[in-house]
Amino acid sequence: MRAGQIQYSFYTFQTCFRRSLCYSKPVSNKSRLGVLGSGKGSNFVAIANAITTGKIPAEVALVLSDVESAGILSHARARKIPAKFISPGKFRTKLDEDAERAYVGALRKARVDLIVLAGFMRVLKGEFLRAFEGRIVNIHPSLLPSFPGLEAWKQALDHGVKETGCTVHFVDAGVDAGAIIGQQTVPVLNGDTPETLHQRIHAAEHELYPKCVAAIARGEISIVGRRVIWKKN
Ligand code: GRF
Repeated sequence: MRAGQIQYSFYTFQTCFRRSLCYSKPVSNKSRLGVLGSGKGSNFVAIANAITTGKIPAEVALVLSDVESAGILSHARARKIPAKFISPGKFRTKLDEDAERAYVGALRKARVDLIVLAGFMRVLKGEFLRAFEGRIVNIHPSLLPSFPGLEAWKQALDHGVKETGCTVHFVDAGVDAGAIIGQQTVPVLNGDTPETLHQRIHAAEHELYPKCVAAIARGEISIVGRRVIWKKN
């Protein structure tokens, strides 16, 4: 391992992230995931299925949602995974301070190693980011850094790109801005509508997200500056 290279491990990553140089052992036992989502939860299902079939050496310790009726909660409960609605508080696009505290408390109590955002429609800030610095991942429906923000598939279609896709990335204080872990491309076809393109991107997400979470859980990635290096590539 070269100087400046960080080998990823849930247990040491926080410290390493600050020092930006670290030597650590890969994760050996099962990682505990905390999954946050606001919607139907198809990415959660893809990850849960990959865990069941042994592709990800992890368990989902807790699923949280800011939407009481979100499908992701029903999917988790159907699998007997602890799942909880926690009210987001008074803001529309972020958690208020009490909610932030409640989310962090629940995730700490569940002893999660990695936070997996699967369609969580609120920007994480302050205390949440500090509590899980370098241990939060997200999936975004475009090839970042193109088309951050909402309805990325529609942005791509309106812009006229011939290829778009999805990106799994670490979460930092920016919007869809953290280090990129993995990307999968999707062609834009002549007859595409926002809906057909979104569907194709969604299918790609269900392949990409489990692969990225598995690589993290197995300690198979390291970070050099903004670059995430896959050991098996
Ligand atoms: C996905 O398109 C993801 O890229 C975005 O939110 C959507 C979540 O979908 N962040 P689902 O709830 O996992 O089906």
